Amino acid sequence: MSTNRRDFLKGTAWMGAAAVAAGCMSKSTKICSGISMQGFAAPALKKVRVGVVGLGMRGPGAVHRLANIPGVEVCALCDLYDVRVKRQQKWLADNRKPSAKEFAGPEAYKAMCEWDGIDVVYNATGWDMHVPIALYAMEHGKHVFIEVPSAFTVEECWALVETAERTRRHCMQLENCCYGEAEMLCLNLVRQGILGEIVHGEGAYIHDLRSLCYADPKIDSWSTGYANYWRLRHNSQHKGNHYDTHGLGPVCQYMNINRGDRFDYLVSLESNQYNFELYGRSNFPGHSWKDKLKVDMGDMNTTIVKTVNGRSIMIQHDVSSPRPYSRLNVCTGTKGIFNGITFANKPEDAFVSGNICHFGWEEKNGAGVHRYFDFAKTQEMRMKYRHPLWKKAGELAKKIGGHGGMDFLMDLRWCYCLQNGLPLDSDVYDLASWCCLAELSEKSVRNRSCSLDVPDFTRGGWKSAKPLGIVDIDMDKIGLKSVGKDTSALNV
Ligand SMILES: NC(=O)c1ccc[n+]([C@@H]2O[C@H](COP(=O)([O-])OP(=O)(O)OC[C@H]3O[C@@H](n4cnc5c(N)ncnc54)[C@H](O)[C@@H]3O)[C@@H](O)[C@H]2O)c1
Repeated sequence: MSTNRRDFLKGTAWMGAAAVAAGCMSKSTKICSGISMQGFAAPALKKVRVGVVGLGMRGPGAVHRLANIPGVEVCALCDLYDVRVKRQQKWLADNRKPSAKEFAGPEAYKAMCEWDGIDVVYNATGWDMHVPIALYAMEHGKHVFIEVPSAFTVEECWALVETAERTRRHCMQLENCCYGEAEMLCLNLVRQGILGEIVHGEGAYIHDLRSLCYADPKIDSWSTGYANYWRLRHNSQHKGNHYDTHGLGPVCQYMNINRGDRFDYLVSLESNQYNFELYGRSNFPGHSWKDKLKVDMGDMNTTIVKTVNGRSIMIQHDVSSPRPYSRLNVCTGTKGIFNGITFANKPEDAFVSGNICHFGWEEKNGAGVHRYFDFAKTQEMRMKYRHPLWKKAGELAKKIGGHGGMDFLMDLRWCYCLQNGLPLDSDVYDLASWCCLAELSEKSVRNRSCSLDVPDFTRGGWKSAKPLGIVDIDMDKIGLKSVGKDTSALNV
């Protein structure tokens, strides 16, 4: 089966009209501008003025991180619920930050996007609002940064690509795991040629989320539970891997996907669903609709992708089995393997652990075949090949927090790029090719794991685009020394 761009446009001629009807595009919209956003840099912004929409479990951390980056101001706060907006306004006041303009209600994001007091919309809403808000923001001249996964269908991905191209606005997915210490270490190893030619990668999102999915959100306090149970509802209606980017994003950077290589096709296979409904029935007996809900999504999904240059990638998704968290993070090359299993006995290590395993085994005359490097050697390699961004800002990132510091490094880096007129580390094509696997994996699962082509959202640009380099920031230039003191108690 083929899902190339022409087929997509033929089959979705209605989409422009639908987008216009939804208020996402103007009537004069030309569907394809044809001007690539690969390597795009917007004019430098002296001050980055951000509007954060979605102030549930995830959004407040973003408010706190961004407010601690010099030259960045959280100028607008937006949520369905006024009480959530007010809580972040109070945080800004308590932390001696300028107050933000408030927006509350289901359509309030429109007024925020239309407001000329912001340059950037940071979207941490539930999944159904990612694309509508992003399209509306770009149409109103704002750069958009969208939580993961930013989109779920091939059509949505094309809509984001074509709107970014036409409006010349950044549209970046906030894939924080690309900034994890272990992931960046692996990227550095790859760039230094330590692993040789990259052959295969593995990524995953294995995280038992059953209690979070069924939990009742408490709107007027920071709570564990998704607003309107969006994740439970989504999982009940879908199969396939709808949350692939934590594991996939870093592997794509190791392999230069969209920058020298690209996805060719995939197949996806899924176990039955054994755990989800059982959990609902056992833990929420007689509870309104939840204990009766049919969940379509199987417990374990395994999707495998072949690239046009012949590499393979395995991605897994399991949010309903009682097992420890893991993103796998495996990268094998012709000279060795990086095995960064994000998995630890101590919760505080959960996001920063990573074992470098067994690379360069040829030098050991095959002695490495049955064991990885020992702890001392692993530590030595970790230090030697620590990514420059982690060397420079890693300790501050850990102090400010957000999944062991990677969330802060991600935000710091894109803010730095906007302030200095640099291209971002990840673009709308990365977003589209990583996210479209949601729909394609679901289609494959529902059709006896048939093979499906993955669209080339770059329209051939992948052949000449430059790989992501070893990125860095100038700490003095961004004025980071000034944030040291008042972040000591902050863990976002
Ligand atoms: N990158 C990561 O590590 C990471 C971690 C957790 C969550 N996430 C992502 O962050 C996003 C939010 O997750 P969460 O756990 O905070 O969910 P949540 O349900 O706690 O928060 C979502 C918020 O969006 C608000 N919202 C919904 N519709 C809105 C609208 N029309 N206008 C304004 N606000 C609206 C809700 O009121 C709620 O406060 C999801 O996309 C999730 O996948 C990413």
